[in-house]
Amino acid sequence: MPQPPDLIYDPYDYALDANPHPVWRRLRNEAPCYRNDRYDFWALSRFADVLGASLDHETFRSGRGTVLELIDKLNEPTPMIFKDPPEHTRLRKLVSRAFSPRRIAELEERVRDIARSYLEPRVGSGGFDYVADFGARLPVMVISSMLGIPEEDREQIRLWTDATLHREPGETLPEPGVLRDLFGYLARYVAERRKAPRDDMMSDLLEAEIQEPDGATRRLTDVEILTFISLLSAAGNETVARLLGWAATTLAHCPDERRKLVKRPGLIPGAVEELLRYEAPSPVQARTLSRPLVLHEVAIPEGAVVLLVTGSAGRDEREYPDPDRFDVERPIERHVSLGFGIHFCLGASLARLEGRVALEETLARFPEWEVDLANAEMVHTSTVRGWERMPIRF
Ligand code: HEM
Repeated sequence: MPQPPDLIYDPYDYALDANPHPVWRRLRNEAPCYRNDRYDFWALSRFADVLGASLDHETFRSGRGTVLELIDKLNEPTPMIFKDPPEHTRLRKLVSRAFSPRRIAELEERVRDIARSYLEPRVGSGGFDYVADFGARLPVMVISSMLGIPEEDREQIRLWTDATLHREPGETLPEPGVLRDLFGYLARYVAERRKAPRDDMMSDLLEAEIQEPDGATRRLTDVEILTFISLLSAAGNETVARLLGWAATTLAHCPDERRKLVKRPGLIPGAVEELLRYEAPSPVQARTLSRPLVLHEVAIPEGAVVLLVTGSAGRDEREYPDPDRFDVERPIERHVSLGFGIHFCLGASLARLEGRVALEETLARFPEWEVDLANAEMVHTSTVRGWERMPIRF
């Protein structure tokens, strides 16, 4: 079908980012294989197409990058999210152990303690910034704790991580001094820990052996370990912070659904899945094509950049009845907000644990709140979508 000339999907448009759902709906209905000449990409927005592309990693490749503006601009060594098999398979196998269900289940009490330490002092305060004071802090502290970073250094790591996420207007990269301090600390820490292994994720990484293509095995280098830690920080912190920001606004806007969760906390795990579907924290993943393809009568050449709009897939009426309704009791068999296929979110069980515990601890203390949208702020990056500041009042 010919593409309507007035249909424009610009992933860098702040106004569109504030509420992309009407445009995403039009993409699904009017241009399921959408072409953007200005930024030279195609976009798939229907659930079935995003799912199919995520599963077909032979055709839809990640190795040139998965962030539109960073395609072909990556520095070696790249993290596994930007790799294809067989390299991706080797790395993923190696780090999977650190994210095994056993390791993650062991974290529940720690996650809960961290969540409580942020929420408890707010009781009776009248309000706080749910993202800046809580949602953005929780995941950074959890990862530091998983890595075995000494307790007294974790707040500094959190401050540095916060600073690496901050962008001056017009800048796309963080201030180099902050990265130097953060990586200087982590490099010293990795070197020290090589001498004294313990029972934590860092020791798993240091001891894991990687198999080279010729069959030889070796340990990961310090640089490879630091690359993996920065991937965890990039993929795990911002996304969970956005998920919790969406929880604050969506539940405030749907008080009946919130009441159900207060009364029946057993619904919370399903509510986390519904939140992920309803407002995907990481709504767009890029791929490049290893072969030419025709989709919905549109010919896409080999080498083309194709955006998988997971945020749109979650609202596809072909997959979810009444998709714009937030329903904590919706039976969700599957969604693509944590990816699908070989790059399926490595931290999925951790994200789900953090989301569930954060909501349990929040609703137990603050069964009702309002959001102060006039003083809220969105983050504008091409990888995540959501709130950077979300003041709540109760
Ligand atoms: C709500 C929170 C989260 C969301 C929405 C999310 C979303 C995603 C998505 C969509 C992908 C697939 C990317 C692609 O296909 O190119 C992914 C991959 C990944 N995520 Fe998450 N993520 C979350 C939390 C986390 C956490 C907590 C961690 C770890 C601490 C993590 C680590 C990773 C890693 C390492 C990958 C790459 C996996 C691979 O390439 O095999 N994520 N995530």
